[in-house]
Amino acid sequence: MFWNLWLGLAALLSLAAAADTAIYQDADTGLTFSTAFALYKSDGRGITFRVAIPSSATNYAKYDAVIQVVVPNDVGWAGLAWGGSMTRNPLLAAWRGSNNQVVTTSRWATSHSLPTVYNDSKYTVYKTGTKSNSTHWQFTALCTGCTSWTDSGSARYLNPKGGNRLAFAYSPNKPSNPSSNTSSFPVHDVHGYWSHDFNAGSNTNFETAVARLQV
Ligand code: HEM
Ligand SMILES: *[C@@H]1O[C@H](CO)[C@@H](O)[C@H](O)[C@H]1NC(C)=O
Ligand SMILES: *[C@@H]1O[C@H](CO)[C@@H](O)[C@H](O)[C@H]1NC(C)=O
Ligand SMILES: *[C@@H]1O[C@H](CO)[C@@H](O)[C@H](O)[C@H]1NC(C)=O
Repeated sequence: MFWNLWLGLAALLSLAAAADTAIYQDADTGLTFSTAFALYKSDGRGITFRVAIPSSATNYAKYDAVIQVVVPNDVGWAGLAWGGSMTRNPLLAAWRGSNNQVVTTSRWATSHSLPTVYNDSKYTVYKTGTKSNSTHWQFTALCTGCTSWTDSGSARYLNPKGGNRLAFAYSPNKPSNPSSNTSSFPVHDVHGYWSHDFNAGSNTNFETAVARLQV
């Protein structure tokens, strides 16, 4: 009897561990995010990546996304690859500039070297959901052009109703000119992948919630 209970619990725990994302209700923005934790240090430090999208989004069409990233203070820059690899998809890199202001940059890489500026996605950082304390900083931004792109003439779309492979990168080192979003920055120490359940970050009130966020 007790052994059955334990086996049942163990099965539940391993199921929970197998899911890469969980649901996060954000009080600051009123949005529901699908959230993933990307470990970069064996002591348990990691970067949290959250994605919220409109429930009206359909596959093979353009849609906006709100991204919320929670970053430990020892991170020099943090990166998110919307297409789940370093090359040929929209990349976000973020760090703290002068006065600890959050700097985001939209990039694209065709090789494993410094990604260049990519103008087809744009990040608007909100004051709402952007804050810091003695251990972490976090930012919340609208991204247009992150969920679809063109690679060598073919259109690529992230599925709003299911899992998409995302990737992250972590560096302990700062960009050379942190106040500029066109700065160069040093290579990452750690990268990783996960499947992000976009459906879990689906919001029926997306447009009204986003309209209330302070720029
Ligand atoms: C100065 C900037 C960067 C340099 C020099 C750089 C360099 C490299 C190198 C040399 C590798 C191969 C590592 C290996 O095979 O073990 C790699 C892999 C990778 N990088 Fe970067 N990288 C940079 C920026 C970024 C950014 C901004 C992201 C994401 C936002 C990123 C994500 C990845 C990922 C996911 C991989 C795994 C292989 C792949 O998916 O293509 N990198 N990078
Ligand atoms: C840098 O910021 C400016 C002003 O917000 C924006 O227009 C531009 O697209 C950004 N560049 C990159 C590479 O993100
Ligand atoms: C991106 O936009 C900026 C500002 O309009 C422009 O100077 C730059 O050449 C563009 N870069 C690319 C790669 O299209
Ligand atoms: C510090 O801020 C982060 C990001 O907002 C948050 O996740 C964390 O709970 C905060 N820690 C404390 C002790 O308030």
